[in-house]
Amino acid sequence: QGSPGTGELLRSGLPLPQPFRVPLPIPPVLRPQRTADADHYAITQRAATAEILPGVRTPIWGYDGIFPGPTIESRRDRTTVVRHRNELPVPTVVHLHGGHTPADSDGYPTDLVLPKSGWDAGHGGHGMADSRARITEGERDYVFPLRQRAATLWYHDHRMDFTGPAVYRGLAGFHLVRDDEEDALGLPSGDRELPLMIADRSFDEHGAFAYPSLDRTLRTTPGVESAYVEGVFGDVILVNGAPWPVHEVAAVRYRLRVLNGSNARRYDLALDPPPPGGGGFVQIGADQGLLDAPREHDHLPIAPAERYDVVVDFGRYPVGTEVTLVNRLGTGSTAQVMRFVVARRAPDDSRIPAKLAEIPPLTREQATVTRDFSFRAGTVHGRAGWVIGGEPFSPDLMSASPRLGDAEIWRFVADIHHPVHLHLVGFRILSRGGREPGPFDGGIKDTVDLAPGESVEVVARFDGYRGRYVFHCHNAEHEDMAMMANFEVI
Ligand code: C2O
Ligand code: CU
Repeated sequence: QGSPGTGELLRSGLPLPQPFRVPLPIPPVLRPQRTADADHYAITQRAATAEILPGVRTPIWGYDGIFPGPTIESRRDRTTVVRHRNELPVPTVVHLHGGHTPADSDGYPTDLVLPKSGWDAGHGGHGMADSRARITEGERDYVFPLRQRAATLWYHDHRMDFTGPAVYRGLAGFHLVRDDEEDALGLPSGDRELPLMIADRSFDEHGAFAYPSLDRTLRTTPGVESAYVEGVFGDVILVNGAPWPVHEVAAVRYRLRVLNGSNARRYDLALDPPPPGGGGFVQIGADQGLLDAPREHDHLPIAPAERYDVVVDFGRYPVGTEVTLVNRLGTGSTAQVMRFVVARRAPDDSRIPAKLAEIPPLTREQATVTRDFSFRAGTVHGRAGWVIGGEPFSPDLMSASPRLGDAEIWRFVADIHHPVHLHLVGFRILSRGGREPGPFDGGIKDTVDLAPGESVEVVARFDGYRGRYVFHCHNAEHEDMAMMANFEVI
């Protein structure tokens, strides 16, 4: 599926060392200014270049000019305020994915921050008319009270019809929420806790990201629309912005916060070789925080925007082993994600308690309403696109109006794979394909991958805030092709 771009680049005679042995970068943690009850951060969105392929400068758009952006670490119950300054040539919107946030800081796709320097329409995307939009110029504060459990969240651009190109160019970063309950468990921490943002990219012969189109009007050129219909795939897997990186580990337990930050690619991750005795990934958390109890897996299927918190015990391998994180859904250059080298013995005082967290009960019986939403191909302004319930996204079309505090069952059905994401809430998966949820459906999620023809029921409680939010497919190109809808908590 990937464009041939990177292959051409590698053959073009650029002096790339073979094989690559790029160390795993860890995104820097951003320091806040603290006041009595809030932590203030400042991020500038700007164009920059990054050395992603060794010796090659790739133009990116980055939060603070880096990809991934800096990591924000919040404490539960303290308010996080992020001042985003837009120095890019296009309007932007920031969404805190997985955050239970007030509607006006949620990154509604028409709440644009206009660039101070003017909007260069050559970069595409047309925006949408919306009488309720909250448009600012140059910069704005996003305010996150974060009264939610510790979890691996991420922030990314969220502008209607432009999320795909903006995120592909680099507008994505981790936002971790920590709390005392989780800290008390004794899980691996410090440099034994690794955020891993997995994202595929293709490069052209100049080393630039090869995204098939930057303008909706180009989507009718042959070959381009089909790339959008499937979603945009890359032919190199990056982890934290580095191709197939290598990381030296001690023979101890590590906590991996795995995020699929790809526009469209799904992965099925496994360890090669598997540890003696099998298993390998002890899942401790899902999208919205810790599970009630750990679950062991020997692979991890992960769709765009999903997260897994897993512990891998490298002490199960002999020192000297090179352990590859492979992608069982990939072929050739997309089959390998990264490598761990078990470099030395070391003491390990971390634990994985049998009981991890008390998760608020959320059951079918609590729901007051059941709603149905289909995620299918459809027609968007006369062109092929993707729609929810037969309708393309419009700011004026309200698809659901849950009452504040109510629990509801939402039932989704899909034609092909669609990773469905709800803003504002976490949900529990009640059933998949008419059966009990599967081994990877545990805990509280905010994104669930629907397989072709599959129906999935989830239950969510719409507490927190009133206001207008969205839910959508997290295949970024499907989202841009209108597979998004509104709900309003009333
Ligand atoms: Cu991560 Cu509305 O998206
Ligand atoms: Cu989709």
